[in-house]
Amino acid sequence: MIGPRTFLEHENYRYLKIAIGLLIASLALYILDDPPGGRSGSSWTGYGLGTIAAGIIFWLMWLGLRKRDYTSTGAPLKGWVSAHVYLGTSLIFLVPLHSGFEFGMNIHTLAYALMCVVVFSGILGVGFYALVPISMTRNRNNITLDAMLERIAEIDSECRTAADGMPDYYAQAVMASIEQTRIGGAFRSQLSGNDPGCGTTRALRSLRTSEIDLDGDAKEQERKLVELIARKELILKQIRRDIRYKGLLDLWLIVHVPFAFATCAALITHIFVVFWYH
Ligand code: HEM
Ligand code: HEM
Repeated sequence: MIGPRTFLEHENYRYLKIAIGLLIASLALYILDDPPGGRSGSSWTGYGLGTIAAGIIFWLMWLGLRKRDYTSTGAPLKGWVSAHVYLGTSLIFLVPLHSGFEFGMNIHTLAYALMCVVVFSGILGVGFYALVPISMTRNRNNITLDAMLERIAEIDSECRTAADGMPDYYAQAVMASIEQTRIGGAFRSQLSGNDPGCGTTRALRSLRTSEIDLDGDAKEQERKLVELIARKELILKQIRRDIRYKGLLDLWLIVHVPFAFATCAALITHIFVVFWYH
């Protein structure tokens, strides 16, 4: 889980500076080294820069594992994501310096193309994180979701009590709210962020349009029911919105991760091919 935006500024932009430093050093090496056969991936500079690029890529892959290992110590996760983002982006320039800006219809260029998809999906992902409210990214670890679900369970039981002894009409509304309210569901409905047939919305509507005349305690109980169900609807709206953001946050990963694996496969083939033929 990456925290609210701050990973971009982490340690006063340490990894942005490292990435820029790396690019400047690589560019200097590229300009200074002018081998007889022309600049290319098979010059010494080419081999050096290629090795650095490959090292960065395999290291970036490792983040996926590191991310799930909450027990590990070492650099805080924020620092890892910061490094991931800046070093990952630097690859767009580092690899052309490696290959002497040569590209063709071959496995080498395929590796680069796949890598570019990974990098641009990553940039898109960072863009999503930046757009999503800070409170949401901070709460991605489900703590507030659990609290909200718990609150709903409480409201449900308070509703049952409040509907006790009321006409059937009210008990039916409460049951609709309890039994026909769905959270989550298919990925597509998660992304939509609402449920048009939500039992709680219907219950609230039927309570508000009730034409049954009540008085005394019953009137008070009706008012309480409306208040409870209205509060429940509000919490549901918030949960659905959070789930929607969460879905959006993970959408780009559907591209990022498989292409990251494909990049590695093409890269290993690339390295294998050049050592086979050179
Ligand atoms: C250990 C790491 C690497 C080594 C040893 C290596 C080696 C080489 C060599 C020897 C060439 C020249 C091939 C030729 O002239 O036919 C080359 C070209 C190239 N490499 Fe790498 N490379 C490495 C990493 C990478 C990485 C990480 C990428 C991109 C993801 C990459 C993309 C390319 C591209 C696009 C070319 C130019 C292909 C062309 O001329 O059409 N290489 N590499
Ligand atoms: C070749 C370059 C890259 C590779 C191989 C790579 C690979 C990966 C992998 C394996 C994950 C773990 C995903 C998961 O299991 O959930 C990941 C996550 C991520 N990547 Fe990349 N990535 C690369 C470049 C980038 C770039 C350039 C950016 C942004 C500009 C980026 C942003 C992210 C973010 C924000 C995450 C999610 C971190 C989190 O959820 O805490 N990546 N990447």
